[in-house]
Parts: sequence; C-alpha cells; structure tokens
Amino acid sequence: MAELKVLFATSEVAPLIKTGGLADVSGALPAALRAIGVDVRVLVPGYNPVMSQLAQHGVAATFDGLLGFPSARLLSGKMANDVPVFVLDCPSLYQRGGGPYQNTSGHDWADNAQRFGLLSKVAAVLGSSASPLNWHPDLIHCNDWQTGLTPAYLHFAQGAVPSVMTIHNLAFQGIFPPATLAKLHLPPSCFSINGVEFFGSLSFLKAGMFYADHITTVSPNYAKEIQQEALGFGMQGLLTTRRASLTGILNGIDTDEWDPASDKYLAKTYNNTHMTGKAANKEALQSKLGLNLEPDVPLLGVVSRFTEQKGLDLLLEIAPLLTKLPVQLAMLGSGDAQMQKTARDLSHLYPGKIGVVIGFSEELSHQIEAGADMFVMPSRFEPCGLNQLYSQRYGTPPIVHATGGLVDSVVDCTAATLKDGTASGFMFSGMNAENLFDAIQRAVDLYHDQRKWKALCKNCMSKDFSWESSAEAYRVVYLKVLGR
Ligand code: ADP
Ligand code: GLC
Repeated sequence: MAELKVLFATSEVAPLIKTGGLADVSGALPAALRAIGVDVRVLVPGYNPVMSQLAQHGVAATFDGLLGFPSARLLSGKMANDVPVFVLDCPSLYQRGGGPYQNTSGHDWADNAQRFGLLSKVAAVLGSSASPLNWHPDLIHCNDWQTGLTPAYLHFAQGAVPSVMTIHNLAFQGIFPPATLAKLHLPPSCFSINGVEFFGSLSFLKAGMFYADHITTVSPNYAKEIQQEALGFGMQGLLTTRRASLTGILNGIDTDEWDPASDKYLAKTYNNTHMTGKAANKEALQSKLGLNLEPDVPLLGVVSRFTEQKGLDLLLEIAPLLTKLPVQLAMLGSGDAQMQKTARDLSHLYPGKIGVVIGFSEELSHQIEAGADMFVMPSRFEPCGLNQLYSQRYGTPPIVHATGGLVDSVVDCTAATLKDGTASGFMFSGMNAENLFDAIQRAVDLYHDQRKWKALCKNCMSKDFSWESSAEAYRVVYLKVLGR
C-alpha cells in the first residue's frame, strides 16, 4: 500500500493545457513524487483541450448542484506519463474558446470566481468525509489562487484532511468583490483579516495562505523575498506571521521532455560531450526567424509571457544598441499588446538581426533554447523560472536579473567561478537597462573567447535540475503536515 496519498489540485497541467510554468510543474512533480512512492493524483478542469486529449476515462463521480454550482462530473483517466488524473467536467464553466483564465480578447472570464470556486470546492469535497470516491487522499496540495479556496472550504468541512498551498506567483491573487463570498457559500465570519478578506475584497490566494496547514513556494530565495514589502504584494505581513510554516523548494524540470540529446523538435540533437550539433540548431533558428546566417554573431534567445514581471521592456529598449555589438535576437512570446507591437516594430526596423514570433509554440520554444547562444531573462521578480533551467540544460547560458529563483539556479560568471567550474550564466543587480546591457556585454565578450565559452556551456549542461531532490523535499513537507 502506498505510504501517502495526495490530491494535486491545479488549474493547468502539461501537456493537456499550458499557459506557463505552473503547467510544467503540475506535469512533472506528480510523476516525480510517484517515483518515490507517493500516490499522487491530479485534479484539473475539463477545458476543451483537456477533454479532447483525455483518450480513455471513466466517470468517477457526479456532483448535482453542489452548493448551487452547475452540475459537474468527475472523470478519471491517466496522463501520458501514467499519472492518474481527475478531470472536472462542467461544460458551462470550462468548455469554451479562449484560454483557461481569459477570453480571446485577453480579458479575464467574468465568471472566474465560479469557475475556480467549483474547482476549489470539489478538491475540498474529495478531502472530506463527503467524498464520493473510494480513494481518500491524506492531504490536498493546492497550487496558486485558482485552488486557494480549497483550504478555506476544508476548514469548514467535516472530516477534512490537511492542505498544502504552493505559491507559484504572488502577483496573481484571485481578487473578487465581497459579495462573491455568499455566492461561493463561505460563511460571512471568514470575511475578516483572519480569513479570506484582503483590503476589503475576497482573495482566493489569501484564503489559501491563511487556512492551509503549510505554505510552500517555488524557490528558497523567493520564500524570503515575499516576506518583505518590495515583493510581498501586500501579503508580507501574513507570510511573515506564517514563516515557520513556509518552505521554499526549487522547481525541477522534466529531463525527458527537455533533453537536447533526444529532443524531437531539434534540427540536430547534441550532448555535453558532443556539442557540435548546437551550431546546426543555431542555423535552423536563424533561417526560421529570417535572421542573417552568421554563425559567429552571438544569438540571444527569449521565450516568455510579455508582462511587466518579465522585464522585457528593458531588453526592447536596448535592442537597437545590441544589434551594433553585434548580436542577434530571437524572441517568442505573447501578452501585453504594447510590448508585442514594440517587438514587432523592432523586427521590421532591424531585419536579419531581430526575429520575433508573437504566439505560443512549444516547438519553437525548444528550438530557441537549443539554437540561441545565450538566453535572456531580465525578470523584475521571478518566483522560480523554468526557462533559465531549460537553457542551462541546453548549453545556452542565461543572462538574468538577480531575483527570486534566478538567484538560486544561476551562478554568475566571474574569473573565480569559471575557474572552479561553477559559472553558469550572467547575473545583474539593479533593475535598469544599463545594467542589463552590461551583463549582455560581459556575455558577448566571453563568447568571443571560445575556449572559455565552451567551458561555461559545459558547466551549464552538467548541472542537475531533475525533480528528484525537490520531490523528496515536498514529501518531507507532506509528512510534517501529517505529523508522521
Ligand atoms: P512563467 O510561468 O512565469 O511564465 P516560467 O519560466 O516558470 O515562467 O515558465 C514558462 C513556461 O512557459 C516555460 O515552459 C516556457 O517555455 C513556456 N512559455 C512561455 N511563453 C511561451 C510561448 N510564447 N510559447 C511557448 N512556450 C512558452
Ligand atoms: C509561475 C512563476 C514562475 C515559476 C512557475 C512555476 O508562473 O512566474 O517563476 O517558475 O510559476 O512554479
């Protein structure tokens, strides 16, 4: 019998549905936990792409008018990696065009409180004596605001199991008007500073952080940063109060999915000892994005959501200067309309030097990790960040701002770190365009010393970012919460 049973509640899971790193984590961490004997099952809403990819499933339960929510079914199936998954099938809430959180015009769905209220509620039902299932989890692992109400519902439920709340990004808090509380059937008494209230509104994430038995976040450094005003997004007081129950655990990566030695999207695979294939990927990327086929001009890669968080405004600001170094720029991303326009305009102003693709492409994201010489991530804040982990694995040193998980996963290149073999990228402090430019300049200078540059790339590729040790750290948290 499995030692521990955990329901992993999430609003996205790769490869079924993905908008960012949460999906990657939800796809890989449960598998890593299962590999060390934890019986983890995933709960995710039945959006269109999820329903169409769930090949075979059974109906595990039906919920008819649960607390006034529309009727829903719980389907059970398996992910491609064999992780069992419960899909919450409620067509009126989840089966529509657009994305998981927003419509095609980029506006939040007006009924998000209902949509993720139901997800939170169902997770809590499965962790209480009202559960219709035969499989009874020992605890519920919640992720981000979309499952933030689960710990609150559990608090008021009969026979409830404990919960762990993971913060992947404190900037998204699930804030709704106070009247939403009654619609979600939470008692008025919890609308208080000691409850779900946050500056006069209902906050799903605050609810999760207040009621969960333990809080984790996705890097040790971010766990410290969110207890301070600058990056606490108003939650620093609560998080400081709860610091004894707050743990930072660095994300790992799916080392099968992200492996330059076997990646199906690459023009040529390569590894730590035979890196020559990397040049073919650079050429393929240059062709694909209409860049000049210049093997010796350093190529900077970007794969990102276009938001304030990612600091790409700084990169766009200095892009004209960068082309003179010279470097080339390959960008893939989408989001903020103004940033999309600026990036597109730059690609027209600097043809052959700046290549931009606006959109979401799994394939191109792998090709940029492999084909670029350096990867740029000037995030203003970054709870963990996965792209800098992928880029290191692909021998593409990242250039990063010293924040969050970037500090925990990249070692700045200096004479000393190059010598001792730990250097793995370039880091700048002080969030401004000049400092970013200097870091890129340092990278370009080293690039032109190919012997040192190759050593740096090899350092990157030999780092271990697998989930193993982090999955073990989550297991330790689970056991602690359960008092075992
Ligand atoms: P965040 O979750 O804040 O967006 P992460 O670095 O943790 O940042 O994870 C982002 C994930 O989403 C990575 O797997 C990255 O490759 C992927 N991604 C982001 N933008 C795109 C895009 N436009 N096309 C394909 N993948 C993308
Ligand atoms: C969030 C964060 C990112 C993190 C990801 C997965 O989207 O912005 O830093 O890597 O979640 O935990």
